[in-house]
Amino acid sequence: MARRRIIAGNWKMNKTPSEAVALVAELKDLVKNDDVDVVYCVPAIDIVPVAEAVKGTNVHVGAENFYIVDNGAFTGEISAPMLKDAGVEYVIIGHSERRDIFGENDILINQKVKKAFASGLTPILCCGESLALRKADTYKEWIERQITWDLDGVTADQVKKLVIAYEPIWAIGTGETATADQAEEVCGLIRKLIAKLYDQATADEVRIQYGGSMNAGNAAELLSKENIDGGLIGGASLKPDFGKIVNA
Ligand code: 13P
Repeated sequence: MARRRIIAGNWKMNKTPSEAVALVAELKDLVKNDDVDVVYCVPAIDIVPVAEAVKGTNVHVGAENFYIVDNGAFTGEISAPMLKDAGVEYVIIGHSERRDIFGENDILINQKVKKAFASGLTPILCCGESLALRKADTYKEWIERQITWDLDGVTADQVKKLVIAYEPIWAIGTGETATADQAEEVCGLIRKLIAKLYDQATADEVRIQYGGSMNAGNAAELLSKENIDGGLIGGASLKPDFGKIVNA
């Protein structure tokens, strides 16, 4: 089953609005590829200028976070209708930085996945283990538990549109990448779990990314693996290297 490749940049807390527009212009010709979905997930304040700057290009806009209520007294938060109105199509949910630094748990993450779908946004659902769990050889159970909880009550038709990002925490921003075989092992495991929780047709359609120090040098090998349908890229998404990953 041929799944369409999806390469997403996660800009994290980088780029002021004017810097963001300059980066979009710098990358414009480098990220051209009609066979790949290219997404820039950007800080909330950059969404409007970036959506304007990518108009007429092949780039889609994503958010890095949102809250599960449409409006009201939630100081500091941003809602799904706000994102939709600004032209956002994707939203990262459950990134390890949100889980670890901001205390988001699987109950909230599950609510966010359901709310994103209900609002017409495509979730990029992140999972991944710490170095301690990797060393203890309990990472497979951990990831299965994260995905099972995060998808509670999510329908097969929704999962067919879902993007899952496997991001081992020990490989994020560390320069240490999972080997292509390590990444493929877990991405394959996630696909098998989706087949078990749903059915084979759903497992065949869900797109699974690898993330964690992916760069212009290692992208091609990671992306050559059967169960790796794309990448979620942090540091390298802020540089011309991102174009090389899109075209790897
Ligand atoms: P790096 O590519 O900087 O390791 O970050 C990965 C990541 O967390 C993407 O969401």
